[in-house]
Amino acid sequence: MSTSSSSAAERDLKREFLKKFFIVFVVSLICFSIFFLNRNENNKYIIETLELNGSVKEGDALFKINCVGCHGITARGLVGPDLHSITQRLNDKEIIKQVTGGITPPMPSFEIDPVNMSNLLKYLHSLE
Ligand code: HEC
Repeated sequence: MSTSSSSAAERDLKREFLKKFFIVFVVSLICFSIFFLNRNENNKYIIETLELNGSVKEGDALFKINCVGCHGITARGLVGPDLHSITQRLNDKEIIKQVTGGITPPMPSFEIDPVNMSNLLKYLHSLE
């Protein structure tokens, strides 16, 4: 009698454990899918940007509108750092992440299409 009731309790425990395990499994699966989908989106954006050949002039104009407040009118630095020779310190992918990622507040993340991103990159490459 006591053995059968304890094994029923064990079965309940096991079922409870499986239920929790299943929930954790499903939640992790969802998290991973979101993570990978997001990464693919980011990669697509980066590849598209790097395939374009931007214009220094357009990039300069974009910089004047969006970046001079912090990096200075000649990109020599203000609140944000001097960006001359930035392309020797960071590769294009890292610069794209810096501009679009919002990873280092107070610098905001910029929502910028690949064409304009490639213009900005071209401008940054033109700074020596
Ligand atoms: C609100 C101020 C602000 C604005 C606007 C801003 N930045 Fe920045 N930026 C910063 C700060 C501050 C840093 C330094 C972040 C850190 O490393 O902690 C930085 C860092 C950078 C870096 C990396 C520099 C390095 O030495 O690693 C790049 C590249 C850059 N910004 C480009 C841009 C571009 C391009 C724009 C315009 C589209 C822009 N930033 C707009 C504040 C700003």
